Formats: sequence, C-alpha cells, structure tokens
Amino acid sequence: MTYPYVIILLISVFVGSTSLAFAERVYEKDADPRELTSEQTARAARNYQKYCALCHGENREGHKNDHAPSLRSKSLFESGAPHSILRPMSYGRQGTAMGGYLDEVGGPMTLDETWDLTYWLYWQSGAQRIKLTENPVLGDIAQGEKVFQQHCVTCHGKNGEGITAPALANQSFLAHNKDEFIRYAIEKGRDGTPMVSFLDKLSSVEIDNVTAFIRSKAKDAKITQVQLRALPTPEEYVINPQGEDPAFTLEDGKFVSSADLYAAMQSKKRLVLLDTRVTSVWQRAHLEGSVPFPYYSDLQTRMGELPKDVQIVAYCSCPRAAAEYVTEQLAELGFNHTAVLYEGIFGWMNFGYPVVRAEGLEASEAEQAH
Ligand code: HEC
Ligand code: HEC
Repeated sequence: MTYPYVIILLISVFVGSTSLAFAERVYEKDADPRELTSEQTARAARNYQKYCALCHGENREGHKNDHAPSLRSKSLFESGAPHSILRPMSYGRQGTAMGGYLDEVGGPMTLDETWDLTYWLYWQSGAQRIKLTENPVLGDIAQGEKVFQQHCVTCHGKNGEGITAPALANQSFLAHNKDEFIRYAIEKGRDGTPMVSFLDKLSSVEIDNVTAFIRSKAKDAKITQVQLRALPTPEEYVINPQGEDPAFTLEDGKFVSSADLYAAMQSKKRLVLLDTRVTSVWQRAHLEGSVPFPYYSDLQTRMGELPKDVQIVAYCSCPRAAAEYVTEQLAELGFNHTAVLYEGIFGWMNFGYPVVRAEGLEASEAEQAH
C-alpha cells in the first residue's frame, strides 16, 4: 500500500468512529401490541377518566396535579409500552402520589383492565413501539453525577428526589424500568413536556454516564407486597365517638394543619378521617383510624356511611388534590363539616407523626422520603 492510501484509510477510520459515537442509536420496531375490541376500548376510556384524569389530566396531558407525567408523550410509549406503563399503573411508585391500581395490591382494577388501559393509552398516543434491549447501559458513574448536577437537578432534585419532575432515585421507578428506557427518555425527551431531548446538549457517552449514575441509585431493595387487611366497616368510622368536636380553625376555610390534626387525635377528639388515595396505598401505610375512601368512590352509594355532624378530615398524598376533590363533592351532598389535611400524608410523615404500616413493612419502604 502506498503512503497516501494509508493516510486516507486512517482518516476514514477516525471520522467513521467519531461519527459513530455521536450518532443516534438505531432502534428496531417491536412486534405489534394487542388491538382492543370496542368494548375494551370503551371500558379503558372510562377507567382512565375515573382513576387517572385527576392527576394526569382529562386529555392525558399530564401535570394536572402533583407533577404526574404526560400519558400521551410519544417517546414514553415508543420506549415504555407495555411494561413501563403497566408496572407503575399496577404497583405504583412507592413514596410518590402514584399508587397501584391492580386488585392484587388492593387497587380497583383487574389484571385485564390494567392491560387494556395500557394498550388504550398506547393506541391513543399514536406512537410506534420500538425495541429496547435488556442490556445495562454502562458508563462512568462519577462523570454521570457531574452531568446530573449540571443539567438535571433543577427539576429532578439534587438527590434525584423529584421537584417538578419524577423522582429518578425512586426504588419503584428503578425496579420497574430498564436502563434503555431511562436512556431513551434522556436522549429523546418527553414530547409536550418540560423534559427536553438532550441529544444536542450531551454526547452519547455523557448520556450513558448519567444513565449509569441514575442506575447506581438502585438499592436492589425488594419491593414487598403487603398482606391486605380487612377494610373498616361504617360502625368503626368515627374515631372517639364520645369525644368533643375538635373545633379546628381552618386556613382558607378548609385546611387543617398536621400539627392541629395530631393534637386533636392526641386529645381524643371526635373525628372521621378519610384516606382519599387509591386503596392500595392505604394498605401500605395510613393515619390510624382512617377510612379508605378513594377519590373514585361512588358517593351516591357511600354517602350514607358518613355522619353529617362529625368533623370529617380528608387527606391524600398529591398532596391535596384528591382530598379536595372528595370534600367538594361531599359539600354538594350537604356535608359541610369537612377539612383537608394541608400537608398531605407525606408532609405528615416528614413531621414525624405516626402512621399504621402494613405488617412486615419497613418504615423506609412505606415512606421512601419524598
Ligand atoms: C394522585 C395522582 C395520580 C393518579 C390518580 C394517577 N397517577 Fe400516575 N403518576 C402520578 C405521579 C405523581 C407520577 C410520577 C411519580 C414519580 O415518579 O415521581 C405518576 C407516574 C405514572 C406513570 C409513569 C410515567 C412515566 O413517565 O414513566 C404511569 C404509566 C402512570 N402514572 C399511569 C397512571 C394511570 C394509568 C393512572 C390511573 C389508573 C394513574 N397513573 C393515576 C400521579 C398519579
Ligand atoms: C426543565 C426540567 C427538567 C430538566 C432540566 C430535566 N428533566 Fe427529566 N423530566 C422532566 C419532566 C417534567 C419529566 C416528566 C415528563 C412527562 O411529563 O412525561 C421528566 C422525565 C424524565 C425521565 C423519565 C422519568 C419517568 O418517570 O419515566 C428521565 C429518565 C429523566 N427525565 C431524566 C433526566 C435527566 C438525566 C436530566 C438531565 C440530563 C433531566 N431529566 C433534566 C423535567 C426535566
């Protein structure tokens, strides 16, 4: 080989390898997801409005309450269908407002319903599923942390705890999603949301590094499924039936603070506590004596269970959306002695006030400080 050829060869190898490192990854299209019958479609659409719209928005736009992500972003469904949709829906993300909706963990939906809702969301999004590998994304964790501190913390929090965006250090998030799903979100962003694509801001290697950093937050902790306890019966709803009315001073005419509620419980005041979250999370941890009364309850059938003359305090974890929704509906039915726990149950727990946990559930698992 003559001298000029060697140069050309060397240049082309060099150019070839750098452009490869910065090129977009090539993804394959995966097998087609299941079609739904018109009946399944109608049921899924109803279930969506009943169970999900409160936080994810009537049109799946997201960020209606408590920074619930968009459920129509194409990039989410390209990379996430079905399992990265099905798993949070079924089992929730512990320590966030996202509870589990599968009956097996105490939620309101059957396995068929969760699958149908997954595919319904997929078809609604108009996305084309692509194939991601199960391979770990390898990278330099220390370098990845630098990228994270520079580009991600304003929304995802210094420790990945989530501020206006999902908690990336959350153990359910990490357990339910593979590395490639995480990497894809960073590379492509989530269209129609504040999560932009980092493809032109970070190199491919930097995206690998920050993915490896996020993965390094996984503690491989087992996500325990709890033994379901029996729900209280209406005769058990009033706490301290012989006690006095707590006579709360309500902020804005509706909010009670955790401190005031705790003091009322300590001094044995008469109360009804409504836990307005999806019942699966009541099963994991709740305020003592609280009644599972999820935001999707049919009030026409359940209003008869509640007294009109006893102080009702509703709480949730979003931190108030579900509780306010329930008290507003109760007001329309003539229940006027109601209040909403201002800080929600995570605020209550962060103050160190007690909760009743499912048997065998470690405090860290129940709470995963928010
Ligand atoms: C009380 C508010 C609330 C309700 C109701 C709710 N979610 Fe969520 N959901 C959230 C929040 C908050 C997150 C993000 C949690 C985090 O990781 O910080 C989330 C995350 C998710 C994710 C993960 C999305 C992603 O980008 O990875 C899916 C999927 C999801 N929810 C589906 C549903 C479905 C389906 C329903 C109805 C059956 C539902 N959610 C009901 C608040 C809610
Ligand atoms: C301007 C705020 C903002 C910044 C900066 C930001 N993100 Fe996000 N990120 C979001 C929001 C909001 C979502 C949820 C998107 C949605 O609604 O679907 C999100 C979603 C994600 C998801 C998917 C989470 C899930 O629950 O499925 C990952 C992974 C992620 N971001 C990683 C990063 C990384 C890594 C960086 C830094 C390189 C970063 N983000 C920077 C706002 C941000």
